[in-house]
Amino acid sequence: MSCEANGSVGIGLLGAGVVGSEVARAILKPSVSSVSESGLELRRVLVRDASKQRPDISPDLITDEAESVLANPEVAVVVEVMGGEEPARSYIAAALSTGKHVVTANKEVLAKHGDELVRTARENGVALSFEASVGGGIPVLAVLQDSLGANRIDTIRAIINGTTNYILTSMEESGATFEDSLAEAQRLGYAEADPTADVSAYDPVYKLCILARLAWGASINPDDVYREGIEKIESKDLRYARELGFKIKLLAIGTAGDDGIRCRVHPALVPSDVPMADVNGVLNAVEFNGDRVGPLWLQGRGAGAGPTASAVLGDVLRIARRIRVGDRGRARFATTSGIAGAAPPPGISTMNEMRIRYYVRLSALDRSGVLAKIATVFGDMQISIASVIQKDLDDARGIADVVIMTHPAMELNMQMAANLLSELDVVSSLDNLIRVEDYVRSSGS
Ligand code: NAP
Ligand code: HSE
Repeated sequence: MSCEANGSVGIGLLGAGVVGSEVARAILKPSVSSVSESGLELRRVLVRDASKQRPDISPDLITDEAESVLANPEVAVVVEVMGGEEPARSYIAAALSTGKHVVTANKEVLAKHGDELVRTARENGVALSFEASVGGGIPVLAVLQDSLGANRIDTIRAIINGTTNYILTSMEESGATFEDSLAEAQRLGYAEADPTADVSAYDPVYKLCILARLAWGASINPDDVYREGIEKIESKDLRYARELGFKIKLLAIGTAGDDGIRCRVHPALVPSDVPMADVNGVLNAVEFNGDRVGPLWLQGRGAGAGPTASAVLGDVLRIARRIRVGDRGRARFATTSGIAGAAPPPGISTMNEMRIRYYVRLSALDRSGVLAKIATVFGDMQISIASVIQKDLDDARGIADVVIMTHPAMELNMQMAANLLSELDVVSSLDNLIRVEDYVRSSGS
């Protein structure tokens, strides 16, 4: 698909919601010369409801028939910003198969079907670009694929869901409820159509799969990533964590070591004095550790119309430049560890053998002998206790919060201890178990 005789590059948009409308506006009313001089021409915009008022887009461009974009000979680049797995996957595949370049912000489709779509793009000699799928406006994939190409990456540690970071920050700073914070994130256009994807951490799992694929060349199935959302975090956890010198963040962590690749997404206690603890609101941040570059830190707005459209348009402009010079681009899931002589991608390792510290909050009877019974469970499971504090006594029920910090312990042992603690007659409930993300201090963290 080349540019037209007048130098224009036809764009077909799939979706005109939060992100799509901003992309359309930027093309129709460019505010920078890089866009106005790029020859981008918006040719067709697919939506679900063609009767909806869309003030910035001429009704002539709007359609509810996918074929008017996918089979349109005047469309050279298809921009998919509809979201969801289907029909988005089929539309992307159809566009690539007919020789159209594709730009997408769809992490779900990439995490689940990325390999197949990259293959289709390669077979058809077209580009498949997806910078906006991870980290919103942060150019994280370009850095990982291009700038860090000569590095072996051993750690990825990231806050890559703006909605949950917004909710946790708002609960921590203003004492807002979980429900009010989520509603505000939805109003601001950060949340996915179904907020479960954010709150239950499916969205950051998809993003971590994409990062891990680029870093290690491993096809990680989202089901192989350990996932825990923020549903169980209560304001009191944020308060207790602060008193202990931590913030609580939803972290996406990928590590590659001798025991293979381990990918996990869960709430974590982060020491208050590391930069990750200060990533607030809708901000995202990604840390890489590369063998040559060392620690590297990227931070920016991870969701919302402007930042996401910025990443989408960056991809579109790159493709348009290539089209203009006759280079059709190449779809890739390039790997930074795919350097000469590198070993094949390591296998996937499970959580059970991981050693880590834990924050445990339980509701226990406020009477003598209780702590001894609790300590015995930890001891039996070879888990060493670092500190115990008793908080917030409910006088009427005679029950108090007990917060226990452990030394590093095996995940499997901690899970067995959690089961035993829940069964103790002196424990009314095990309310939370949160992992602690310990930092090896370096110049970058
Ligand atoms: P959105 O506001 O819900 O917009 C979705 C758009 O797609 C709407 O215009 C909708 O049409 C259209 N659409 C949905 N299903 C369709 C179908 N089956 N056929 C035709 N049109 C359909 O979504 P968004 O927030 O812009 O997100 C779009 C994509 O960007 C998603 O993949 C999301 O994960 C990703 N993303 C979003 C953000 C963000 O901050 N919002 C950030 C990074 C990545 P109607 O207008 O008629 O309903
Ligand atoms: N719902 C996503 C988030 C949008 O909150 O991060 C950006 O991918």
